[in-house]
Amino acid sequence: MAHQIQTIGIIGSGQMGSGIAHVCSLAGFDVLVNDVSEDRIKSSLATISGNMARQAASEKITESDRNAALDRIAAAPDMDALAGCDLVIESATEEEAVKREIFANLKPIVKPSAILASNTSSLSITRLAAETTSPEHFIGIHFMNPVPVMELVEVIRGIATNQATFDSAREFVARLGKTIVVAEDFPGFIVNRILLPMINEAIYTLHEGVGTVDAIDTAMRLGAHHPMGPLQLADFIGLDTCLSIMQVLYEGLADSKYRPCPLLVKYVEAGWLGRKAGRGFYDYSGETPIPTR
Ligand SMILES: NC(=O)c1ccc[n+]([C@@H]2O[C@H](COP(=O)([O-])OP(=O)(O)OC[C@H]3O[C@@H](n4cnc5c(N)ncnc54)[C@H](O)[C@@H]3O)[C@@H](O)[C@H]2O)c1
Repeated sequence: MAHQIQTIGIIGSGQMGSGIAHVCSLAGFDVLVNDVSEDRIKSSLATISGNMARQAASEKITESDRNAALDRIAAAPDMDALAGCDLVIESATEEEAVKREIFANLKPIVKPSAILASNTSSLSITRLAAETTSPEHFIGIHFMNPVPVMELVEVIRGIATNQATFDSAREFVARLGKTIVVAEDFPGFIVNRILLPMINEAIYTLHEGVGTVDAIDTAMRLGAHHPMGPLQLADFIGLDTCLSIMQVLYEGLADSKYRPCPLLVKYVEAGWLGRKAGRGFYDYSGETPIPTR
């Protein structure tokens, strides 16, 4: 039997955690937002409020939907506050050690029936589940960015995930009005197994001087009808996240075709993480983004 879900905890209130909290609260769930940084929680709540105001202004939701949804979201700087959650979605930095520690810390806090999920873009659901007391209640629920706009959610079972957990995840995604695609537990699942090598190749194209940032993005927008160029998309995803995913593909699939481009590595080492850092393949300090190469 599927589990009843009403209260959702979200760990990691960056761009994805904020988006997940946004759609969950609008769908009527009670949401608790946790992060290691209280400032990130504060700015996450401000972002959600601003994004919902924009939705209300364009009449996608009403002002009373917005107020009711905002009332359902609360800050939870202390992880202990997640004790009553029916579902906890981890959406912290894409590093296995970070996520493992979060699940290890959650173990004594959450109730035994709670479902634990990761929004990881690439990491093994089975390995993360092994960090918990009930791997049968663990599942991958992978949202797309920006969460309020994108229709798809990938759902990934670990080897131990049971049917009730899968059914609950499916019902949860349906309540959000999103479309589910089921992927097997392989590095990068479906979307990022295909998307990230394309982005990595665009960075190699830049690295080898085949084209400028503007030429590469324009080529793919107008030549392949992509809604945004691959370098713009990389900045949007976050270059640290892109690099982590490429490393997971490279190591997990043991094939040199997934080798992260050295230029991507350098950008991350420089702290040029894309839009969230104000600089990546574009400089975001002015009114319009300026290509940096
Ligand atoms: N960016 C994307 O396009 C995208 C799309 C789908 C999934 N994801 C996945 O979502 C997750 C988050 O990505 P993001 O883009 O929101 O990153 P982000 O850098 O915007 O946010 C990460 C947040 O995690 C917090 N954090 C780090 N360690 C923590 C801990 N121990 N406990 C609690 N919070 C912690 C950070 O303070 C930060 O606020 C990653 O697993 C990523 O792969 C990202």
